[in-house]
Amino acid sequence: MRVLVSGGAGYIGSHTVLSLVASGHDVVVVDDFSNSKPTVMGRVESLSGTHVPVHAIDLTDAEKTERLFAHERFDAVVHFAGLKAVGESVAKPLAYYRNNLDSTLSLLEAMRRHDVPRLVFSSSATVYGEKAPVPYREDYDFLSSSSPYGQTKVMIERIMADAAAATDGLKVALLRYFNPVGAHPSGQIGEDPQGIPNNLMPFLAQVAVGKRDKLVVFGDDYPTADGTCERDYLHVEDLAAGHVAALQHLDAMAEPVRAFNLGTGTGTSVLQMLHAFERAVGRELPYEVGPRRAGDLAAFWADPTRAQTELGWRAEKTIDDMCADTWRWQSANPQGFPGA
Ligand code: UFG
Repeated sequence: MRVLVSGGAGYIGSHTVLSLVASGHDVVVVDDFSNSKPTVMGRVESLSGTHVPVHAIDLTDAEKTERLFAHERFDAVVHFAGLKAVGESVAKPLAYYRNNLDSTLSLLEAMRRHDVPRLVFSSSATVYGEKAPVPYREDYDFLSSSSPYGQTKVMIERIMADAAAATDGLKVALLRYFNPVGAHPSGQIGEDPQGIPNNLMPFLAQVAVGKRDKLVVFGDDYPTADGTCERDYLHVEDLAAGHVAALQHLDAMAEPVRAFNLGTGTGTSVLQMLHAFERAVGRELPYEVGPRRAGDLAAFWADPTRAQTELGWRAEKTIDDMCADTWRWQSANPQGFPGA
């Protein structure tokens, strides 16, 4: 298939581009590089051994999006592009709703005008909200999220479901990611957050490489085995493979839209993650316990049964693989991707 990957220069997008190319698909990337560096694409091309055309377009610009679809033919879209920082979304909700919703609407309108029949969407476990029973299952109906970022995922899932119901032939897979970590085993591409990392794994990696003094563990008084929060971490390579599996499943799907959890089904605590990272680095890392972070849930993980039975997908890499690959990327690229 000829696949348009929006946000293809981002962390999960770039790994998915590699998996798509390795599976024989032709890939075209659209990215506005607002949270990624153009140099990512050179690394992706050398790892894949393929030229990957890139359009530097902001998808909130509906006219430019339309022009892209008028000039190129796509069999499918994998939609990653969007703002994704939970804390920033609380401070700037309108920017999050404007950006994430407008870009999705431009894409859906262009897809409809040009009869593109397949869509895979980058959703999140955050759509299950605070009240869903753990492990999270896709048939839980009361989706809501405590952050504006998460709420854009809930809204976009709904918009896509309505569009699929109204458009003959359109098939949509909503992929609800748990906590993606790790990097390509080559160490050539990985997560490259701008500024102070919000997430545990890139923060740990920057402590290990000496860019940050110490990890602050956000609370150790949760009702979990060691008192720190538990999450379902999965390797970004497994996650990328999940997108390929979902894309290739769409035509066989009975319903126009279907959600799939992409997770391992196992929770790992913050302290367990810290110690796994210490094993990868080969030394102890400095940390202290601080107060809880607002909005954090104690523990959640996926029920990944649906993705296993319907997509034939399962996460295969271990926590130690995730840490070893993150460390290979971070130690080889202490400043992330080069700037120009
Ligand atoms: N944590 C620390 N110290 C840090 C960073 C994180 O102790 O410096 C802890 C957090 O409190 C949490 C765990 O590490 O318990 C994981 O935190 P992350 O920020 O890495 O991940 P979250 O589970 O909070 O966030 C993820 C995604 C979001 C999504 C959210 C809810 O990054 O996109 O899950 O599903 F919205």
